[in-house]
Amino acid sequence: MSTDSSAAQRRVNVRELLDMKKRGDRIVVLTAYDVLFARLLDECGIDIALVGDSLGQVFAGYPSTLPVTLDDMIYHARAVRRGVHRAMVVVDMPFLTFQVDPAETLRNAGRIMKETGAEAVKLEGGDEEAARHVHTLVRAGIPVMGHVGLTPQSVHALGGYRVQGRDAAAAARLREDAKRLEDAGAFSVVLELVPAVLAGDISRALTIPTIGIGAGPDTDGQVLVIPDALGLNEGFQPRFLRRFAELATATREGMKAYAAAVRSGEYPAAEHSFE
Ligand code: KIV
Repeated sequence: MSTDSSAAQRRVNVRELLDMKKRGDRIVVLTAYDVLFARLLDECGIDIALVGDSLGQVFAGYPSTLPVTLDDMIYHARAVRRGVHRAMVVVDMPFLTFQVDPAETLRNAGRIMKETGAEAVKLEGGDEEAARHVHTLVRAGIPVMGHVGLTPQSVHALGGYRVQGRDAAAAARLREDAKRLEDAGAFSVVLELVPAVLAGDISRALTIPTIGIGAGPDTDGQVLVIPDALGLNEGFQPRFLRRFAELATATREGMKAYAAAVRSGEYPAAEHSFE
């Protein structure tokens, strides 16, 4: 067996994710936008590198994900793809690249798959229209991760970044949406900002894995936005977030040490110089 095919076998794939759900092994997902963090997350055994359109906020500094373009996603996804060997790469379809005509959705998802080497795309929404788009992609052989609950591309329609599915009618709609995505062929579904009990119920009702963010402990996996998880996005401290490192603090210390060393003439020294 060639090295290439054994490497391909080791990569996390949709079947393995289903098996993980059956075994009760939790799926670990982080967002990634560049090759450096992609390498690190792969080295640490993260199962899925999600090239999320959250990059519009945490990487580009936009107020929402709405300005992100397909070309932005492709650029970042190519960088991430170059950094990972084991993790599955899933790429968000940005605002208005999948909402209208399934043929257009297929063309756009096709560009992501062909130009980035990703294994799957993710799209937001769980109504009948969204399910139709998921079905079109799945028929073409493109694995799709769904995303329901708080869907950031609809932030203006939803009236802000708020917990979804709190009343009985909204909870019932969320259950239906998640099931509809499973029936349309999605291989997993993100549940964002959903009450924990509802997220647990949906997770038990589906055969495909659910990936939670702000959805409590009973989903089949968890995703966090990498600068949030690592303390680089200091202003953002919602209830659901735990910081697993303090990279902004460490980065500030490093930058100050660098500036001081340059200003004092201590760096570069003889050992950093060429003869
Ligand atoms: O864009 C993103 O990073 C996402 C995750 C928060 C699920 O959609």
